[in-house]
Amino acid sequence: MKKLLIVANWKSNKNIEEAMQWMYEIHHASFGQSEIENKEIILCPPLLLLPGLKSLVDTYKDSPFTIKLGSQDMSPFDAGAYTGEEPPHLLKEFAEYAIIGHSERRTHFFENDDMLTQKVNEAFHYFITPLFCIQNEDTFIPKGVKICAYEPPSAIGTGRPDTPENANNVADTVKKSHHVEAVLYGGSVKPENVKNFTQMEHIDGVLIGGASLDPFTFIQIIKNS
Ligand code: PGA
Repeated sequence: MKKLLIVANWKSNKNIEEAMQWMYEIHHASFGQSEIENKEIILCPPLLLLPGLKSLVDTYKDSPFTIKLGSQDMSPFDAGAYTGEEPPHLLKEFAEYAIIGHSERRTHFFENDDMLTQKVNEAFHYFITPLFCIQNEDTFIPKGVKICAYEPPSAIGTGRPDTPENANNVADTVKKSHHVEAVLYGGSVKPENVKNFTQMEHIDGVLIGGASLDPFTFIQIIKNS
């Protein structure tokens, strides 16, 4: 049975109270063994929520599964004179994963291949695992990346997901042409369609934006995946 990564990307949403409520609901949901085994749940909240959520995750450590934490981005620089950037040595105290190269970062913050390569290298330096987003099978992938998320921009937040067959083909191509071990699919994933993607041979999980915000919808995604 393959292992699935189920990643929640909250983007710039939720305050502290809402985040705590979400965690409460997830940890108090009842999951059958088969609904949760071989699944790794990764939450990528806004950066300022990471320290508080890290303490919460620790208090829920006896629940049937542990939520891992990730950031939605990563500085390309180490500690130093980089006003406004969050230093990776601090990030690593709270996050095991970092989403890098999301299309919203590329569009709104003009992140290019060189910068994304620097970010990936910083992540490796601090033993943070990059979840590297690609927009199609030709997107540049920095050396050493083991987990990619295929997220066609036309599918993000639009309610128009890619077809599972096409996503599977992209995942297959990427695995064959790079040393990538796992490919997730992201873009309008919902409880009703998640299985269509996760049952595909080359797809190893999902990256969820909008549908991860409501805890009950997200619980249903985990169960259905
Ligand atoms: P969506 O976003 O699930 O809201 O389409 C996915 C993403 O941007 O990671």
